[in-house]
Amino acid sequence: MDKKKLYIKTWGCQMNVYDSQKMADVLFPLGYTPVDAPDDADLMILNSCHIREKSTEKVFSDLGRLRDIKEERAEQGRKPLIAVAGCVAQAEGDVILKRAKYVDMIFGPQTYHLLPEMVLQANGGERVINTDFPAESKFDHLPEATTGSPSAFLSVQEGCDKFCTFCVVPYTRGAEFSRPPEQVIEEAKRLAGQGAKEITLLGQNVNAYHGAYHGENHDLADLIAAVAEIDGIARIRYMTSHPRDMNGHLIEAHRDIEKLMPFLHLPVQSGSDRILERMNRKHTAAEYLDIITKIRAARPDIALSSDFIIGFPGETDEDHQATMDLAEKVGYASCYSFKYSPRPGTPGAVMDGVVPEAVKDKRLQELQALLFAQQTRINESMAGKVLPVLFDRKGQKPGQLLGKTPYMQSVYVDAPERLFGEIVDVAIARAFQNGLAGKIVTVEEILPKKSA
Ligand code: SAH
Ligand code: SF4
Ligand code: F3S
Repeated sequence: MDKKKLYIKTWGCQMNVYDSQKMADVLFPLGYTPVDAPDDADLMILNSCHIREKSTEKVFSDLGRLRDIKEERAEQGRKPLIAVAGCVAQAEGDVILKRAKYVDMIFGPQTYHLLPEMVLQANGGERVINTDFPAESKFDHLPEATTGSPSAFLSVQEGCDKFCTFCVVPYTRGAEFSRPPEQVIEEAKRLAGQGAKEITLLGQNVNAYHGAYHGENHDLADLIAAVAEIDGIARIRYMTSHPRDMNGHLIEAHRDIEKLMPFLHLPVQSGSDRILERMNRKHTAAEYLDIITKIRAARPDIALSSDFIIGFPGETDEDHQATMDLAEKVGYASCYSFKYSPRPGTPGAVMDGVVPEAVKDKRLQELQALLFAQQTRINESMAGKVLPVLFDRKGQKPGQLLGKTPYMQSVYVDAPERLFGEIVDVAIARAFQNGLAGKIVTVEEILPKKSA
């Protein structure tokens, strides 16, 4: 078969990473093999994110570069295709179609199973746009999962019905949908068979998961328990959760399921009840803190993480102080914090009380200083401990592997390549703001020495 090169650039959330892998899987039977650079690719896909203005703008700056490549290659008589996928394609497909005439294909996240047909059409000279929300689930039609990674993503839930007033996800990904449990478990088994030791169950609202099996509903805790039964899977994580769906069953899972890693990403966005209400988050700061207390009772060593939005319309100094106080009370291991970015079509974009950019900057700096100090302190508390590390990436230097602790910290270790994909005890020697460095604990070191 004709060999063709496929370049996919991905940004945004982990669901986009999972989707890009699926796109590569679906195009493989057509002769496309992935490459790392666009220069001599036959199909170039931008798998885009619409969450903030900056991530959206990236589409247009990246497209400029792809257009130049396409023009150069046209001079050599080749016709590479340019495609925009992901949430920007879904939200702004028409704009891209008009503004960038050299783009051959635009398609949204629910259409990836239709890629082979769309590529045929585009290769036949048609411009393809597909931003439908088809009635059938793409998950029923996508090929079997492939992974080369010891740490694999698995989408179990997609879309969102919560309509936080700042967020585009309900519009770009559509209504909340859970995959059937048996489909998820089959996929997890296949990933384990391909060497995955860690599985991260993904969803825009993953803890809203409610899959039906034989007429009974199963929640995320049930799903985690089922995945924990699979041979070869040593670690389970899930991402991203909403505080409202953090039920008792899931909290208990953190106590009862050993393979469930002691890490929880639970975005709060703001510590002010007034702002939480304007954001339509439907929980208070006290309710959030109550979940944190319960989860710590279930799993005392759990590492916590969150997302914050700074400068949502109407945010006063007092509201900001409430956010600072909440972060102070929780003590986070790692967080993402962003300045509010008004998104077209969302209720937040037309709210009064717009916060000046300079105020946002100052508040963001203040919050980040606190969060970075917390992160550094927690990392430093690991020094001197021996932690099991899953080596899931190669380091930049030869002879170095990168891995993750149960608490999701990155660890740099001098290690032979044969340990890639293994879980190995590492003595943590040094801590930085963004990670740890350590040394493999050898058998000689852990066995008690016998005196001669
Ligand atoms: N479903 C998750 C978050 C999905 S979006 C939840 O409910 O928390 C990922 C993160 O992007 C959000 O947690 C939020 O902090 C950030 N985000 C979303 N829209 C944003 C906007 N308009 N401006 C700035 N940050 C935003
Ligand atoms: Fe966006 Fe809110 Fe849905 Fe999260 S819960 S995806 S922030 S609308
Ligand atoms: Fe971005 Fe879409 Fe994910 S907007 S964060 S890629 S769901």
